[in-house]
Amino acid sequence: MKHYQLLILTTLFLLTNCKKQPEIGLITEKAMVVSARKEASKIGSDILTKGGNAFDAMAATELALAVAYPYAGNIGGGGFMIYRMNNGEIGALDYREKAPMNATKDMYLDSLGNVIPGKSTLGAMAVGVPGTVAGVFEAHKKFGTLPIEEIIQPVIDLAKQGVIVTKKQQKRLEKHTPNFRKANKNTILLDNNWKEGDTIRYSALAETLSRIQKNGRDEFYKGETAKKLAQFLQDNGGIITEEDLANYQAKWRTPVVFTYDDLKVISMAPPSSGGVCLAQIMNGIEPYKIEQYKHNSTEYIQVVTEAERRAYADRSHFLGDPDFVEIPQAKLISKEYSKERMKDFSFEKPTSSDDVSHGKVEFIESDETTHYSIVDQFGNAVSVTTTINGAYGSKLYAPELGFFLNNEMDDFSSKPGEPNMFGLVGAEANKIEPGKRMLSSMTPTIVEKEGKLFMVVGTPGGSTIITSVLQTILNVHEYNMGMQEAVNQPRFHHQWLPDVIRMEPNSFDESVKQRLKNLGYTIDETNSPVIGKVDAILVLPNGKLEGGADHRGDDTAAGF
Ligand code: GLY
Repeated sequence: MKHYQLLILTTLFLLTNCKKQPEIGLITEKAMVVSARKEASKIGSDILTKGGNAFDAMAATELALAVAYPYAGNIGGGGFMIYRMNNGEIGALDYREKAPMNATKDMYLDSLGNVIPGKSTLGAMAVGVPGTVAGVFEAHKKFGTLPIEEIIQPVIDLAKQGVIVTKKQQKRLEKHTPNFRKANKNTILLDNNWKEGDTIRYSALAETLSRIQKNGRDEFYKGETAKKLAQFLQDNGGIITEEDLANYQAKWRTPVVFTYDDLKVISMAPPSSGGVCLAQIMNGIEPYKIEQYKHNSTEYIQVVTEAERRAYADRSHFLGDPDFVEIPQAKLISKEYSKERMKDFSFEKPTSSDDVSHGKVEFIESDETTHYSIVDQFGNAVSVTTTINGAYGSKLYAPELGFFLNNEMDDFSSKPGEPNMFGLVGAEANKIEPGKRMLSSMTPTIVEKEGKLFMVVGTPGGSTIITSVLQTILNVHEYNMGMQEAVNQPRFHHQWLPDVIRMEPNSFDESVKQRLKNLGYTIDETNSPVIGKVDAILVLPNGKLEGGADHRGDDTAAGF
C-alpha cells in the first residue's frame, strides 16, 4: 500500500472511530428509559407516556430487548431488579436462572475430574431454567398499573415489523455465527449473513409472545411453550424437564444497602455478588478521600485496584445462592471489615494476589448481559440487569419458539478452583446443586443523596460489571461529572485473579501506565476493546433527568 493510501485509510479510521462522544446526555423533565437499543427505550418510554409506571415500563423494556437485542435481551435467561418507590420504599426481585433438578455437582467433568471444554457454555447442557418471564409478571403483579396485554402489544408489533441491523450488531453476528452452527442442528434465523440496514423479522418470537399475552406467565412455565421448550432441550441433549419449568419462581429479596460519604447505595443481594462486592470496594476506598487524587491517576487506580482485589477474593470464597449457603453478609459489608482488609495496602507496591489466595487463571473477554434504567413521571425508579450469560447465551436457538437459551450454568463453579468464562474462580459456596441459583456479578443499583433519588445505574460485562458501576458512581460523586460524561470515561478492572489491571486500550495516560508498571502492576489492554456498557440516569439539581447511554454499544435514552 502506498503511503498516501495508508494516510487516507488512517484518517478515515480516525474520523469514524475516534468521534468525540457527546458529554451531555438526553435531558428530560420527568421520565426516562435508557437501554441497549433505541427500539426498547422507546417502547418503555411510550408505556410511561400512556400513564404506566416504572414497573409497566420495566415489563415492556425487558420484553422489547428480547426482540431488539437477542445478543443479551431475552426470555430464555434471567435477571435482577432493584427498585425505589417515590416514597423511598426499596426492594429487589431475583429472577435468576436455576439449575435443573437433574443437575449434579460434577456434570461438567470427565471421568478424570477435568472440566469438559464447552459443556457449560455451548448447547443444551449449558442452559439453566429461565426466569425472565416469571420476573416480568411478578414485578407487574406487585406494582404494575396498565394491563399486561397492553404492555406486550407493542413488543409483538416490533417482532412482526422487524428490527434494523446496526453496524455493531452485524459485527457481533459475524463473530458468533460459527458457534451458532456448532450449537444448532439446523440453520437459525440469525445465521443469514445479515448486514447493517437489513430488517430481521422475529415471527416465531411474536407468536410465543402472543401466547404469553393471552395466557399469562404460566404459558411459559406450564403451557404449550413450556412443553415445546422442554422437548426441544431434551431433543438437543439437555436435562431441563417440564417439571423444572413448572416449579420456577421469581423471589423478592432484601437489597444490599450501604453508605458512601453522603450517598446511600442500594444494590443487588445474593445470589448476585454485585451489591456485596460493590459495598466492600466502596467501604475499602472511602477512607482515602478519593477526590484528592486526579481522575484515573496512578494513585486513584492503585487504591481502587487494591480494594477490588480483596473484594473479588472474598467473592470467590463466600458467595453463592443464599437459599443454599450461609453468607456472612453483614460482616462482609461492614466498614470495619473492609478497613481491616485494606490494612496491608501500601502505595509503594502492589499486594500480590498470590498472597491473598492462589491459582493461575486464563482471562477470557466477555461483554454480554444487558442493563436498563428507568425513572417514571411519578418519581419511581427501576434498575434492571438481565442476561443469557454469554453472547447469544448457549447459542442454542429454539426455532419454533423464536429465542436463544442462556448458558448460565457456566456461572456455577464447575470445579472449585477452576475459572469460568469470565475468569472468575469459584469455591464450594457456588458448586452446582439441583434447584440452586448460580452466583452472578450483576449489579443493578440505585443511589440516593440526602434521602432523595440521585442515580439509577448498571451495566453488562460479566465480572467487570461491579467495577464499571463503581467507577460510574465515583465519576459523578468524586469528580463532579454529569451522567453521560461519567459513562463515557475509560474504565479499568481488577478481579483478584488473574493478577492484572485490565484497561480499555489507548485510553489511559501513558505516564500513569508506566508508573503502575514500575510499581509492579501488570497491565492488560489486549483483552477487551470495551469494559461495560453502562446505562444510567442522574437526577440533576433542578430535578430534571440526564441519561447516560453508553456509546460503546447502540445504547439510547428516551423520555419526556
Ligand atoms: N452471567 C453474568 C452474571 O450473571 O454475572
